[in-house]
Amino acid sequence: MTAIVVAIDGPAGSGKSSVSKQAARELGYAYLDTGAAYRALAWMLLDRGLDAGNPLVVVESLGEFDFAVGTDPDQYFVKVGPDDVTVAIREPWVTSEVRLVARLPEVREHLMALFRRIVVEAARPGIVVEGRDITTVVAPDATARILLTASEEVRMGRRSKELVDQSAAVVGEQLRSRDRADSRVVDFMNAADGVTTVDSTELDFGQTVSAVVDVVQRAVLRASHG
Ligand code: CDP
Ligand code: CDP
Repeated sequence: MTAIVVAIDGPAGSGKSSVSKQAARELGYAYLDTGAAYRALAWMLLDRGLDAGNPLVVVESLGEFDFAVGTDPDQYFVKVGPDDVTVAIREPWVTSEVRLVARLPEVREHLMALFRRIVVEAARPGIVVEGRDITTVVAPDATARILLTASEEVRMGRRSKELVDQSAAVVGEQLRSRDRADSRVVDFMNAADGVTTVDSTELDFGQTVSAVVDVVQRAVLRASHG
């Protein structure tokens, strides 16, 4: 049987990671956080004291990028070689540098191949894959393709709640500037053809998960009749 792939894109703070993980649990699918790979690569460069702003250095480091990610939504972890970096890759000093690696076509190609391998290996019977270019580049033929959005104000509010030790103004500016930089590389603010938008501005967490699960179940039904 062909694996069921659920592709979810959206800007920072739209709820991609938390909603995708919970939807995967409810559907009995695996879960793949592609942002973790971009973050882990930036972490590796910074950890080695290398210049993440130098494209040659970044591209050369890809050969040594030994990345592992947990695809069971209940056993999530991120590793680079022997180092567990699950927590470290969320630190602001990593977040602010990720754009430097994510903008490079060589990095995107390399990680895309990695994601496609993980999807084939991990789908059981399905997998929810979330990021910025999953609906358009990584898995344009996915069974269900969703753009998860929320107003900028609501997204900033959600992020500041998580980062309690940072001021709301700083968190807001960082989120805006990251989305601006990321949007220059891939368009995740507008739904591509055939992609269903789930706007979570007025939805709480549970309602957003239900809306996503509903889109997936309808797509799976359509595919099985297709
Ligand atoms: O969870 P959050 O929205 O903060 O970000 P993330 O999904 O962990 O992604 C971190 C960064 O990785 C993004 O800001 C993008 O620069 C990059 N990324 C990407 O370019 N393409 C993806 N498919 C996923 C992430
Ligand atoms: O991965 P992304 O940056 O898109 O967002 P996230 O880290 O999954 O979600 C950011 C925060 O928003 C989390 O604490 C979620 O629980 C919360 N959230 C919410 O309060 N209401 C929603 N409808 C969706 C997410």
